[in-house]
Amino acid sequence: MALDQRRDLVAALADFYGGHPDVERHPMLAEVGGHLAAALDADGVEAPEPMALPVARLLDGIDAGSDVPGVGVVLSAFVAARPVLRWIQTPAYAATLSQHFLDNYGYVRVLGPGGLVESEVASAGLGIWGAGLHYPRHEHPAEETYHVLHGSARFQRGDGPWEPKVVGESVHHDPWERHAQRFGDETCVLLWAWTGDVAVNARLVSDD
Ligand SMILES: [Fe+2]
Repeated sequence: MALDQRRDLVAALADFYGGHPDVERHPMLAEVGGHLAAALDADGVEAPEPMALPVARLLDGIDAGSDVPGVGVVLSAFVAARPVLRWIQTPAYAATLSQHFLDNYGYVRVLGPGGLVESEVASAGLGIWGAGLHYPRHEHPAEETYHVLHGSARFQRGDGPWEPKVVGESVHHDPWERHAQRFGDETCVLLWAWTGDVAVNARLVSDD
């Protein structure tokens, strides 16, 4: 039963990326979708030890229904799998960010090191940020694409403008491109995909 929930989540992400119109602009998404689909074909969905985090409670308050293609399926699978997932936070953030931030933030790795599908070259998963949080400027060596699945956020790339994004919209970051997010007045769920150096975690960048 539990493995079915994990498998359903992997399948939902594979379907989301498979044939997504953003693949044309961001070929990395085809790579990520290919890893997920291959794992389903090869019975390669794993069952990492579940781990709870306070942020998972925010899934109680979200509406998993969405008219945006693919989004409702991913959110429903995420909510269903919640108790068997391994909820994590970027380890260095625990020493830096406020308790309020840490109580309202966390993610689940579906693909990547320690994920439901093991990979050293690609990563993908679902993150939650509570309403009103500010995720300070950070950077990482992996190329990244985010899709907003619930709520809204404003994204800043480098020193550029803060761009509002709603459900179904995406944001792309080049390797080492600095970025920050400010979340809207609802729980925000973001689907992220990384390719390249996925073993190196994001790190906060001081504004000095
Ligand atoms: Fe990022």
